[in-house]
Amino acid sequence: MLFNRVILVILILGFTLSSCRKDPVISPLDEPIDSVALYVPDLPDQLFDYESITFPDHFQNDPLLNLLINFNSGNPITNEGATLGRVLFYDKNLSANNTISCASCHHQDKAFSDGQQFSAGFNGGHTKRNSMHLVNLEYQRDFFWDERANTIEDQVLMPIQDTIEMGMDLNVLTNKLSALTYYPKLFFDAFGDSVITADYIRDALGQFVRSIRSYRTKYDKGVPVDFSNFSTLENEGRELFFSGQFRCNNCHISQNFGGTSNEINGLDINYADQGIGVITGNPEDMGLFKTVSLRNVELTAPYMHDGRFTTLIQILNFYDGNIQPHAYLDDRLTSDMNTGGPPIDFNMSDHEKEALIAFLRTLTDWELIIDPWYSNPFPW
Ligand code: HEC
Ligand code: HEC
Repeated sequence: MLFNRVILVILILGFTLSSCRKDPVISPLDEPIDSVALYVPDLPDQLFDYESITFPDHFQNDPLLNLLINFNSGNPITNEGATLGRVLFYDKNLSANNTISCASCHHQDKAFSDGQQFSAGFNGGHTKRNSMHLVNLEYQRDFFWDERANTIEDQVLMPIQDTIEMGMDLNVLTNKLSALTYYPKLFFDAFGDSVITADYIRDALGQFVRSIRSYRTKYDKGVPVDFSNFSTLENEGRELFFSGQFRCNNCHISQNFGGTSNEINGLDINYADQGIGVITGNPEDMGLFKTVSLRNVELTAPYMHDGRFTTLIQILNFYDGNIQPHAYLDDRLTSDMNTGGPPIDFNMSDHEKEALIAFLRTLTDWELIIDPWYSNPFPW
């Protein structure tokens, strides 16, 4: 609230000094502020061309990604829809007390993760799990660490209604957004209808998050030139990754390096948070989590569903000799190749770890994280 007021004062000053915007609705300072309606998004006259972005050949020719692709979700990306989605994604009015937007827990400069072990919600509570990065969702199957949402459209309204995250009722939200000056036109442009509904909110957010595509990394630029752009160390790491010697590419598969399946990778013998097992109740699912994509992994610490590791070397030190003997440990991480068998010890050398980390860093998309198409359209 204090924060809102400080901003309000700054805005009133701004409006007084340069009364270039028309009739701002300013609440008196001692009245509670119902919304952050004063801020209007700054959008380009010529909309960004979200519908035209395509993935490079190595994605399109990857048979596995072709199986996964959810382009045909019934909600194709349009420039107007994704533009509205971008505004919604960054708008704190989507939370019950105007303090939290999707972007509060999904920061562009961290490939849409947030750098926190657990994220603070609208009322000071914290999420149970680590915020996930959001790229190439189009090529992923099932969302959240426990994969409880089967499509992006199923997913995007959940954080809004979550009692920790944004605490918002969808009926209240549609009324609230209808009262904000900038929304009716954005909804009309996107859906030919200025009446705001939860379905339109879902579709616009779905289009925007699906438009977040990461394909401009050093790795992606290396594919067509046989990795001649890589250093010797990066190429050593690439070979180690893809040789299967350390099995990384058995689970973090495809040009998306994961986002496809779920496994128990042996973080614990008994998991405090049992992931998919909480939903199914099956003993073999206790500790089963989504195998997240390793794209941008350099930017998405802390790691794992509970954010327990903060550095990439900690990750390698876990996979190298510290995998726990879980009763249903995935067979790709056991020495006898049986589910629940003894954890494998890879005996990685320091040099191999260094090379793997150098390779993982080639998966960072420095262009995505400063791309104005995905940036905050609000002036704060
Ligand atoms: C308070 C923090 C917070 C807010 C606000 C928030 N998220 Fe998240 N997001 C998370 C966390 C934490 C997870 C993982 C939760 C889990 O697995 O149970 C997550 C997961 C996701 C995923 C799943 C990604 C994957 O790879 O499976 C998507 C998509 C997503 N959020 C989109 C959004 C959108 C869209 C909004 C706004 C409507 C939003 N989030 C608001 C914290 C947040
Ligand atoms: C048996 C499948 C499997 C193998 C093999 C595997 N991983 Fe994973 N990996 C997972 C799963 C599942 C998770 C998420 C686990 C969780 O959070 O509980 C994960 C998480 C990670 C994360 C954290 C990502 C994030 O954003 O939080 C990194 C980094 C990672 N793995 C790297 C590797 C590397 C490097 C290798 C090879 C040494 C490897 N993995 C081998 C399944 C696997």
